[in-house]
Amino acid sequence: MTSSLPDGASLAFGVATAAYQIEGATAEDGRGPSIWDTFTARPGTVRDGRDGSVACDSYHRYDEDLDLVAGLGAGWYRFSIAWPRVLPEGNGRVESRGLDFYDRLVDAVLARGVSPTATLYHWDLPQALEDLNGWLNRDTAEAFADYAAVVHDRLGDRVRVWATHNEPWCAAYLGYAAGVHAPGRREGGAGHRAAHHLLLAHGLAAARLHDAGADDVGIVLNLAPFWPEDPDDPTLVAATDQIDAVRNRVWLGPLVDGRYDDGLLEVAPELAEPDLVRDGDLALVQGSADWLGVNYYTPFRTARPGAAETHPEADAYPGTSPVSFVVREPRTDIGWEVDASGLEQLLIDSHRRTGLPVLVTENGAAYPDVTLDDQDRIAYLRDHIAATRRAREAGADVRAYVVWTLLDNFEWAEGYTKTFGIVHVDPRDQSRTPKASFHWLAEHISDSGVG
Ligand code: FCB
Repeated sequence: MTSSLPDGASLAFGVATAAYQIEGATAEDGRGPSIWDTFTARPGTVRDGRDGSVACDSYHRYDEDLDLVAGLGAGWYRFSIAWPRVLPEGNGRVESRGLDFYDRLVDAVLARGVSPTATLYHWDLPQALEDLNGWLNRDTAEAFADYAAVVHDRLGDRVRVWATHNEPWCAAYLGYAAGVHAPGRREGGAGHRAAHHLLLAHGLAAARLHDAGADDVGIVLNLAPFWPEDPDDPTLVAATDQIDAVRNRVWLGPLVDGRYDDGLLEVAPELAEPDLVRDGDLALVQGSADWLGVNYYTPFRTARPGAAETHPEADAYPGTSPVSFVVREPRTDIGWEVDASGLEQLLIDSHRRTGLPVLVTENGAAYPDVTLDDQDRIAYLRDHIAATRRAREAGADVRAYVVWTLLDNFEWAEGYTKTFGIVHVDPRDQSRTPKASFHWLAEHISDSGVG
């Protein structure tokens, strides 16, 4: 096995995007509809009522965007592939124009001396598969593995670092339990069932990619630290442990131990149903990842129910005892508390738990788009890069820090109201203007001597 991951001698840098958030061109070159096209068309689902049909028009402007990546000096570009561009019906017929697009994109990344890392699923499930019950249907996992093989067959000679899923927790629990993301279903325990099929999809796809010669197949998780406000309150500690099970252990248990732990099964009895979790499923998932991607934005402080704010994603932890969430200052524009020590702890813990090389695959901050002089974002990035370096010094094998995100873009249920970009995008003419954070980061990368 030859790994193409950053070697870790020093911290590598990258920048991330996702297909539905930037590409636009949703009806072009044979792309089929995705669940996000359907979801955004429903009134009341997205804060500003907008969608990804134009987004940053990156489908046409990717050369300009990659010039920015190169200008930043980032060594890595993390992007996602839109499943419905490649297989408009989710399985079966391959749309070669979709593959051609990613082929050109990858060549354009490499031509700038940047390494591509591709995520196969950043939430844009083909609508045709949702019509067959989406991630609640086991066949979707098989379809995902076929899709992964098709993409790898075309790009695997040049893309060496692969991620199967981005934040499957959001796809499962925000999509099928809380209903705040596509497909917008609020069916409680369906979140757990979707989670199992997402894990199975990862396992099946990883096996196919490994068979095809891939050495660096990872999964990107939004693991989160949960901090009980009163660590001496046994009721609160127990409730927090349940939340931790549904957010973190539901993925790490199968990946590391090949099992769902007993505490998780108590709140998620679905995950013990033999019809859902079939013989061999968890064995397939165990050890299937060569690297772990960690996306981090904020820690979560829990309190007794009613003591603090009800979390907007409260329904996303089906089966758990209720807690409320304390959000301290300072907060970013999306209301998330800023605390870089959460990232340091998470990196140390997740490396210890998995033994895998870890990449920070997303980290960044939403601040209002009123000025290009985004000093708040600079402070956020500076503190979180420092936390990443501290985790490395403490022995965590963290190879890269990847910023979310290059461009102000379609921020899911928040529409275009929350901006995370280090580059401003003018909605009137799509012109791109690097913010102060872009220049700061470019200088930081160049001072560290690596991309
Ligand atoms: C993560 C998503 C990413 C982006 C950031 C802000 O949950 O992976 O697409 O929306 O949050």
